[in-house]
Amino acid sequence: MSAPLMAAEDLAVVYRRPGQRTVTAVDGVSLAINRGQTLGLVGESGSGKTTIGSVMLGLIQPDQGRVLLDGEPAAWRSRAQRAVMARRIQAVFQDPFGSMNPVRKIGQTMSEVPRYNLHLKPSAIAERIERALADVGMASDVLDRYPAQFSGGQLQRLAIARALVVEPEFMVCDEAVSSLDLSVQAQVINLLASLAVSRGLAYLFISHDLTVVRHLSHEIAVLYAGQIVEQGPASAVATNPRHPYTKALVLAAPVPQPAEQRARREARLRLAAPSARGQTGLADQMGQVSLADSRPLASRTPSSGCRWAPRCRLVRPVCRSERPVLSSRRPGWKVACHFDTEAGLAPDLGEST
Ligand SMILES: Nc1ncnc2c1ncn2[C@@H]1O[C@H](COP(=O)(O)OP(=O)(O)O)[C@@H](O)[C@H]1O
Ligand SMILES: [Mg+2]
Repeated sequence: MSAPLMAAEDLAVVYRRPGQRTVTAVDGVSLAINRGQTLGLVGESGSGKTTIGSVMLGLIQPDQGRVLLDGEPAAWRSRAQRAVMARRIQAVFQDPFGSMNPVRKIGQTMSEVPRYNLHLKPSAIAERIERALADVGMASDVLDRYPAQFSGGQLQRLAIARALVVEPEFMVCDEAVSSLDLSVQAQVINLLASLAVSRGLAYLFISHDLTVVRHLSHEIAVLYAGQIVEQGPASAVATNPRHPYTKALVLAAPVPQPAEQRARREARLRLAAPSARGQTGLADQMGQVSLADSRPLASRTPSSGCRWAPRCRLVRPVCRSERPVLSSRRPGWKVACHFDTEAGLAPDLGEST
């Protein structure tokens, strides 16, 4: 079997800042993404998603583990190495306004990366820019305009086009649709999905929102407090999650039917202990997405056992003493829970009874 296009092996990232608590943002994470495939990385804010994406982009050196590209260690040390990486790996981030230089015309911004990293004639770069713009549904007259003249959705299309110019094999999309209106979100997700097919692109698609991730992903990895708690086929994880945290995440997604919403809220409250110090948050009372815990990660993650245990309604003594290993009971589907058995989690609290 050939090596995956991108892989991360046993990554750990620890943030140490003078006078502040040390934060283990990523703890033993391994991922593999094949050519043309999308891995969705989902988890609440602060779970370590951006840190993992940054390691895959060479922006952060991990404290442990390594990144592999085509089975070889990825390196960004020299200028030449960084140029090779920039040709193969690109990124789209959340804030479309922040990602474009406001005093430069779109054309200048779009030609920067290829000018430094591709050994092509200006006419060849111009052709690639034309093709990238066509691919994202923008006319070439945008090149003479400034970022302020575009909406967030249009700018995000331009950010995607800019990433496409070097014709990368892999893209990290970090909350790339999170700041967009729902209707625009759907358009950009469809655009990314069609680009994956037409250009054979692979994505690490990062979002706090499972409903966004599931549409685009072949596989989903669920991150909680820097550790993967569940990973498997996207449809299976999104519709039939096995880890109590994933279940709570699925149940937290808003649905348009009030009765269904109420049933999900009740089921979710049976799975996840109320967030801060036994208090039911306003979001909990409203039945909205309520998994956010305002306390810093370090203060709510125990040093031993399962990190979700303090908030898990299914908790047993073993959960507090032994860290559950991410293991596979079904092919291609891994779960880190002491109570993930052949029969599934018992009792299955995904049902509202
Ligand atoms: N530069 C940094 N310095 C210190 N702590 C950081 C830094 N970046 C992120 N963190 C902490 O690491 C954890 C993971 O952050 P991040 O990777 O941004 O999560 P996510 O993208 O899932 O919201 C959080 O607790 C965050 O506060
Ligand atoms: Mg983030």
